[in-house]
Amino acid sequence: MRGSVRLVVFLIFLTLPMFAAERFTGFQSCASSGCHGGGKGDDQLWTWMKKDPHARADSILGAARSKRIGETLGIADPVKSEQCTVCHSPMQSAALERLAAGVKANRGVSCEACHGPGEKWLRFHTRPDVTHAQRVAAGMRDLSQPAQRGNTCAGCHLHLPAGLQAAGHPELRFELARQLAELPPHWTGDTPMDAPRAWIAGQAVSLRELAWRAQKTPDEGITARIRALHWMLGQTESGKSALPESVEDLSELRSAANRLATGASKTRWTELLVKGQIKTICDNAAMFRDAAQDAVVLRRRAEVVVPAIRALALALPGAKGGKFDEVIRGMEDQLRSPVSFTPATFAALLESIPAVLP
Ligand code: HEC
Ligand code: HEC
Ligand code: HEC
Repeated sequence: MRGSVRLVVFLIFLTLPMFAAERFTGFQSCASSGCHGGGKGDDQLWTWMKKDPHARADSILGAARSKRIGETLGIADPVKSEQCTVCHSPMQSAALERLAAGVKANRGVSCEACHGPGEKWLRFHTRPDVTHAQRVAAGMRDLSQPAQRGNTCAGCHLHLPAGLQAAGHPELRFELARQLAELPPHWTGDTPMDAPRAWIAGQAVSLRELAWRAQKTPDEGITARIRALHWMLGQTESGKSALPESVEDLSELRSAANRLATGASKTRWTELLVKGQIKTICDNAAMFRDAAQDAVVLRRRAEVVVPAIRALALALPGAKGGKFDEVIRGMEDQLRSPVSFTPATFAALLESIPAVLP
């Protein structure tokens, strides 16, 4: 267990090696009214504090549900256990020497969990003559591109250390496009047409990370997820050209998935392309009806089909609500548990998607 906690710590704090020695300054250092705790345009702190689930990500650790997970794992108090705080309140699990002088660990997932430890860039980044590239060179994490966002969020949203899920922790599903859309944005510039890029980047980051995990510890469930993701991404133009045909060589798969994640930033999507992509995915309905197909493989594929359609539809604002949501909810119901999945029913729902798009 300690090993897997270390793994997560590693993912969160060392996604970029230069973070290794840098120290956290706490959200209070971003909070003054002249900085990010001000009025319109300077109010990132308030958006985070009042509306963002990350600001209170630690509070669930005190709930009965967490106590039960803790009991199963032999953790006396999840609020204080590194096995939980590493994702729910990362500054609390950081070594003391990772906190700048006089700084108390923040609770919850605060600014630097995403933007990187502030020590080296805190003073410098406010100067008007300093460019985005210079800030990034000083250690501020570049979150402008979907691949970089994907690398950041995946640190907490993709891998659950062994044993946690069996102990009752909800399964983690990393869906970058949807999860970005569900956060109250404290930034400007994103448009709905960014969702398809975020979808591909997020899935490619997942594929890369799962391949890495499968290399370290072979696992049937992970291999099944890898195969499903590889199948799904192979239905996109960029995935088709970037990914190897087979998933056997995990090293090759990892580097190809990484290139795909980075390259996803460059694709320009239009409404027509998004609809075409959704239709390509829906054309798999016949496969779900084919009795010769392996039911487990089909279920794994269905698990990546639903978030794909949901993510792509974020780019079509008219798709919200109504018939579209009804069909998607029907598909999600199919995936609640292995016994609820009937491939033929799923196929019928999939087929009906193009007709309910705006
Ligand atoms: C790898 C990161 C990670 C670790 C380690 C982790 N969690 Fe979580 N946890 C999450 C994420 C991310 C969510 C949100 C899942 C979602 O809704 O998509 C979550 C959700 C939860 C929920 C459900 C919250 C809700 O609102 O439904 C509980 C309860 C919980 N975690 C308890 C724990 C406990 C107790 C531990 C330690 C034994 C722990 N977690 C360790 C990442 C983690
Ligand atoms: C869950 C991750 C996450 C957390 C936590 C977080 N941010 Fe951000 N932040 C982002 C992302 C993603 C962007 C968009 C970056 C981009 O497009 O360049 C962003 C952008 C910003 C921007 C640029 C605003 C703009 O108009 O483009 C500022 C300033 C900022 N964050 C400050 C903060 C502060 C202050 C906190 C803590 C109070 C915080 N962030 C917490 C993810 C996060
Ligand atoms: C340091 C760990 C950490 C990082 C980094 C992080 N999150 Fe989270 N996030 C959590 C935890 C823990 C929760 C669960 C909070 C709860 O349920 O109380 C959560 C909850 C969420 C939720 C609400 C539950 C859900 O899954 O729908 C969204 C949306 C979300 N995060 C999106 C993001 C995005 C997007 C990024 C990257 C820009 C990101 N997170 C980065 C730890 C993290």
